[in-house]
Amino acid sequence: MQRTLIKNIDRLIGAYPAPPPLLRGKALQELPELRNAWLLIEDGRVADFGVAAENPPPRADEEIHAGGGSVLPAWVDSHTHLVFAAWREGEFVQRIQGRSYEEIARAGGGILNSAARLREMPEEQLFEQALQRLEEVRSMGTGAIEIKSGYGLSLEGELKMLRVIRHLKEVSEAPVKATFLGAHALPAAYRDRREAYIRLIIDEMLPRIADENLADYVDVFCERVAFSVSEMEEILEAFAKCGLKPKVHVNQFNAMGGVEAAVRHGAVSVDHLEVMSEQDLKILAKANTIATILPSAPFFLNDPYPPAREMVDRGLALALATDYNPGSSPSGRMAFSVSLACIKCGLLPAEALQAATVNGAHALELGAECGALARGMRADLIITKPIPSTGFLPYAFGSNWVDRVLLGA
Ligand code: NIG
Ligand code: FE
Repeated sequence: MQRTLIKNIDRLIGAYPAPPPLLRGKALQELPELRNAWLLIEDGRVADFGVAAENPPPRADEEIHAGGGSVLPAWVDSHTHLVFAAWREGEFVQRIQGRSYEEIARAGGGILNSAARLREMPEEQLFEQALQRLEEVRSMGTGAIEIKSGYGLSLEGELKMLRVIRHLKEVSEAPVKATFLGAHALPAAYRDRREAYIRLIIDEMLPRIADENLADYVDVFCERVAFSVSEMEEILEAFAKCGLKPKVHVNQFNAMGGVEAAVRHGAVSVDHLEVMSEQDLKILAKANTIATILPSAPFFLNDPYPPAREMVDRGLALALATDYNPGSSPSGRMAFSVSLACIKCGLLPAEALQAATVNGAHALELGAECGALARGMRADLIITKPIPSTGFLPYAFGSNWVDRVLLGA
C-alpha cells in the first residue's frame, strides 16, 4: 500500500466527514475549511485528514510539503465538447464584426462547420488532439470530466466521436463520462426532412451505441436553431428504453418548455439556463434534476448570464461547468468559470467552488467518488500557491494560483 502525506496545508478546503450529498440553498455556502492541516492518501484515495495541532500527522512512505499553500478538491467539469477537429476563431472575428452566433449557425457555420471538419479528420488524429486538451485541463486542476459527441451528425461521424471518447476513458485515470449528442444540429442534407434525421438517430445510431456501450448519457440541443421540445422528447423516450438518462442543452437563447420536459424525463441535469422563465425556476426548485450553468459561453458570446443568484436563493441544485468547445466556449479553464459565476452571476466564492466540485460530481453521478475530500473518495486535488483566503481563488481571475495537481496520487 502506498501512503502519501500532504503536510503544512494552510487551508484544507472541501474536506468532509463523508461524501457530501447534492447541495442546495444555504448548504452551498457551507464549504468546510481546516487551518494548518494534513491529508493522508492511501493508494490514491483519501485515508484521513486532520489539524496538526490536535492530531499529529501520521507517518507515510512519501511526504509532500504544501509549503503553506492550500488544498482543494479537483474540479469536476460536467459539460464539455472537447473532442473536435478545429478551432473556429474565424467565426469569433465575424461576431466581433456584428454577426450573431445564431445567424452564423443558420448560414451553415457553427456546429455544421465543426461537423464538416470532423468528417475529414482520421479517428487517430482526433484522438491525439482531444488527449492533448484533456491533459491541458488536467494540468489546470480538472479531475473528472464529461465529454459529448455531436460534431459527427451522421452514423459514422457520431460513432467515430464516441469511440474517441471511449479511447480517452481507457487511457485516462480520471473518470470520463460520455454523452451522445447526435441531436446537436440538423445536417444540411436533412433540411427539409427533419423527421428523417430523428429516425436516423433512433433507428440507426441508438442500436449501435447501445450494443457497443458507447454512451453514459443522451443529450439534445433543445433550441429554436436546433431541435424542438417534442423532438427532444421523442429522442429521450427512445434512449430511456436502453437505460440512457438525459443531460440536455436547454434555455441557452430561448425558454421553450425544455426544462419541464427534461425534468419529466428524469434528466440528471439541464444545462445552460441563460434564459429562465418563472415556471422553469419553480420546477427546478422541486426537482432532483441539477441546474448546470456554463458562464464562459455567455461571456464569450456576449449574452446575458444565467440568473444563478436567484437560482441558488430559490433552492435549485446548481452545478458549474466550462462547456469547452470551439464555438461558444474555447476554454476548459474551470477556475475562470468559477470567477465568472462570482463576478457576473452573484455567487459567493464558497457557492461557486461547491458548484464546480461537489455538485459537478453529482451531475455525473459520481458524488461518492469525487468532488470532495472525504475518507474513501478519490484523492484528486489541487495544491495552491500560498493564498490569503478562499475568496482569493475566484478574485484572482487572471492568476495561475495552481501550484500542483494530484490526481489519484
Ligand atoms: O453548449 N449550444 C450548443 N452547443 C454548444 C456549442 C457548440 C458549438 O458552437 O460548436 C454549447 O454552447
Ligand atoms: Fe454545450
